[in-house]
Amino acid sequence: MRLDFYLSHVTDLARKAAKIAAAKGRVTVNGVEVKKANHTIVEGDQVCLDGELLAWPSEGYYLMHKPAGYVCANTDAEHPTVLDLLPSHLGQGLNIVGRLDKDTTGLLLLTTDGQWLHRITSPRNACHKRYRMMLAEPISDEALQTLEEGVMLNGESQATLPAKAQRLAEQEIYLTIQEGKYHQVKRMLAAVGNRVVNLHRDQIGELTLDAELQAGEFRELTEQEVAYF
Ligand code: URA
Repeated sequence: MRLDFYLSHVTDLARKAAKIAAAKGRVTVNGVEVKKANHTIVEGDQVCLDGELLAWPSEGYYLMHKPAGYVCANTDAEHPTVLDLLPSHLGQGLNIVGRLDKDTTGLLLLTTDGQWLHRITSPRNACHKRYRMMLAEPISDEALQTLEEGVMLNGESQATLPAKAQRLAEQEIYLTIQEGKYHQVKRMLAAVGNRVVNLHRDQIGELTLDAELQAGEFRELTEQEVAYF
């Protein structure tokens, strides 16, 4: 990475100011003054500005209990977004991992780490997501089996991939899916003649939503949790 790009990421200096700072001899790399903005910085280099060692900011990984009424978007003209629930210094630079509908509640991940985000959302990795839902109508065992085997969604050319459906009550089920098509769960239930009344995600891969985390609250992931994906 170029020195001016590095400086503009780890300090308050804009790219142009970073170039000027280097040209003025304010920057050293591994103890040697470097005046050229296009100097390449590699991992492990010790970069100092005015004698102070700089550090690349570490990535952020957060888990949120998404409340209903918030949209998963960076900005929205009509509705509050999930980023509004975070202090502004955290919200900047965080990307939302996948999407939950405005009325869906539950486990939502946010990160600055693009590769980690990709590992969770990429269809190739088949990351399982578990949803708990109340239904408008009682659901039959046959319908649960159909959901597991795959259903054809409106407007799609291929059936959904194998899923896991588990009855909790006459009108309440868990559904674990490995894809993330638009409104997938609601459309799957519509495909078996039912309707989702309320939808809550409580698990992504091995990561489960903490019971004590209230809607609207968030916390940082542990290193072990980050390493799940
Ligand atoms: N499927 C849906 O239909 N909605 C969501 O919010 C998530 C999955």
